[in-house]
Amino acid sequence: MNDILNQDLMDKLNEMFKDESAYRMLAYFLNTYQGKIGLSSSFGVEDQVLTDMISKIDNTASIFTLDTGRLHPETYDVMDATNLKYKRKVDVYFPDTSSVEKLYKTQGINGHYESIEKRKNCCYIRKIEPLRRALKGLNIWITGLRADQSVTRTRTPFIEYDDNFNIIKLNPLMDWSEDDVWKYIKEHNVPYNKLHDQGFPSIGCAPCTRAVEDSEDIRSGRWWWENPEHKECGLHAK
Ligand code: ADX
Ligand code: SF4
Repeated sequence: MNDILNQDLMDKLNEMFKDESAYRMLAYFLNTYQGKIGLSSSFGVEDQVLTDMISKIDNTASIFTLDTGRLHPETYDVMDATNLKYKRKVDVYFPDTSSVEKLYKTQGINGHYESIEKRKNCCYIRKIEPLRRALKGLNIWITGLRADQSVTRTRTPFIEYDDNFNIIKLNPLMDWSEDDVWKYIKEHNVPYNKLHDQGFPSIGCAPCTRAVEDSEDIRSGRWWWENPEHKECGLHAK
């Protein structure tokens, strides 16, 4: 367990913030854990909302992204627009070079389509190991998770202990709907990934994300060849 927040305190904080706005929740945590708290951003709409709020509360707070080397060109465009708008350079964590070279030799460039195991190897090297480096030294990890994104996320609280990464995870948008997110983006003129206008509600790596129909589940375009229960890359595994 984490020595910063024990389960009792987390229960109290979950209770205390259950009717508060995401902004006030963020402000409390950014002030209380200054220098020890950071947002992981994939530049998806949820992360863009949080980036905008963080820039208004404390623009020196850490925001980082995991550049897997397989991102869409549109993701780099929104990264650029975000850095310009908020006058900062979001930190970038790349995968370890020799691990990617070995991965390529053992399962080829697109081996992730062949089995869940090979897909997880790729996610581990390109996302999980870099995330471990990014979270080093932090006590609180802010994410853009929302409950209605998938069956694997419905019971996630605002504040939780993540035993995979031994860190407290803060999910300020957990009870936001997709409409709430878009309303904020438009009202605050926040830059967003143009793929969202082309049928991509959820955006990950280019080879593992595709556009979906309006009637489809919002994460159905992620790892579309796998069952919904497997659709976590290990970043938010339970
Ligand atoms: S994933 O696990 O399926 O890839 P998803 O795309 O839904 O995650 O994003 C959920 C949250 O995980 C984001 O709000 C963000 O906090 C974090 N995240 C996902 N991908 C990245 C990335 N490439 N870099 C940094 N954070 C990420
Ligand atoms: Fe590899 Fe796809 Fe996972 Fe990206 S999402 S790290 S390309 S398997």
